[in-house]
Amino acid sequence: MSLWTSKDKSERACAERRKKAQQLRAVLTKLGVTFIKLGQFLSVRRDILPLEFVEELSLLQDKVPPFAFVEVRTTVEHELEAKLNEIFCSFESEPMASASIGQVHKATLKNGQAVAVKVQRANLAQVINQDLAFLRSLFRAAKAINIKGDWDSWFSLIDEFGQCLLAEIDYLQEGRNADHLRQVLRNFPAIIIPRIFWRYTTRRVITEELCEGVKIDKISLLKDIDLKRLAKQIVDAYLEQMMVHGYFHADPHAGNLAVTNEGKLIIYDFGMVSHLSEGQQQGMIKLIHGVIDNNISGFIEALEQMGIIRAISRQDKEYLLTIIEPIWVYCHTASTEEIDLLHLEKEINVLLRNRYFQLPANLAYLIRMIVALEAIVRTLNPNFNFIRAASPYFRALLVS
Ligand SMILES: Nc1ncnc2c1ncn2[C@@H]1O[C@H](COP(=O)(O)OP(=O)(O)O)[C@@H](O)[C@H]1O
Ligand SMILES: [Mg+2]
Repeated sequence: MSLWTSKDKSERACAERRKKAQQLRAVLTKLGVTFIKLGQFLSVRRDILPLEFVEELSLLQDKVPPFAFVEVRTTVEHELEAKLNEIFCSFESEPMASASIGQVHKATLKNGQAVAVKVQRANLAQVINQDLAFLRSLFRAAKAINIKGDWDSWFSLIDEFGQCLLAEIDYLQEGRNADHLRQVLRNFPAIIIPRIFWRYTTRRVITEELCEGVKIDKISLLKDIDLKRLAKQIVDAYLEQMMVHGYFHADPHAGNLAVTNEGKLIIYDFGMVSHLSEGQQQGMIKLIHGVIDNNISGFIEALEQMGIIRAISRQDKEYLLTIIEPIWVYCHTASTEEIDLLHLEKEINVLLRNRYFQLPANLAYLIRMIVALEAIVRTLNPNFNFIRAASPYFRALLVS
């Protein structure tokens, strides 16, 4: 007789996976910037990794001690081709924040403008390129000596990751992303995207208007602010990005969001933005139609159009109907008020690991963005209902 019931067995398997995931997180942290970023990149891939890995890897932090001010000075003077005191009338030597890619210093331009200057670590691109080359040769070797594994998929994943990471360390791109996002949110006066001072911005130094506020998770410091209103403004701004423009800030965690004294929201950090293709946006509309009209096969077609379901035969479609149905029934029997996004997310995770499903990288970011946003908004207003807030956007999309 088996010692464990199947429930015990599956719990043991979960605990085992959790332990492995924790070990992996520790190893990646030790290996440095490329691997920390790789872990963060993989943490959104629910189609590839089991839930325990997704959860552990999303805890990866790239908090590292700051680098010395001499290095800051050397980089800034080299990049901006001038002495520090020719551009700035003050430049704080202690950074206000430091991470594995760079650190941020407060400074004042000659005209009196207060700025935040983000300076990249020296040799970062070389380190990252070396690490990427190392990973590629590791997979090549694994393939050559026939270690079991889908090495071709890992190759393309590493290429995709490399592209994202190299784009993230290009501050010119980050500045362009900020400008684009400011344009997207121009009708949202309560949202602040710091201005970029292009004259003092290069691939490795970015100079922004200094916009100070209280980080959004320190709500106890935000006594005079109407938190419910703030929650709604944040969600509206992110819905506008994803539903209307198909272009979104992919990293809305508490470190990247702050609130000013007047209750306006500041968004920082534009290294990671993502967009939806026209086809995906249309697919999303079809998907919402499917849900509202209770048309499950229309819904499945929409998933195909969005690239979430691989091209499938008629027979496969019938099989898929049977596995999607439980979620479908849940969404249709629960009222809008009752739908629990966390519960839904768990079900969706299980589904995504089925071989018919894949998650294009941009949609993986979209899901992570929604999950992160939900968490933030719930701390501001525990009763916030995401689906109810999104309904006007859904309706507007359906009539357009
Ligand atoms: N324009 C700015 N004004 C004021 N503070 C800023 C500005 N930009 C960044 N910061 C501060 O520096 C921190 C790190 O900047 P961020 O752009 O998020 O870099 P990283 O990529 O290292 O996360 C932010 O969380 C914020 O506290
Ligand atoms: Mg940040």
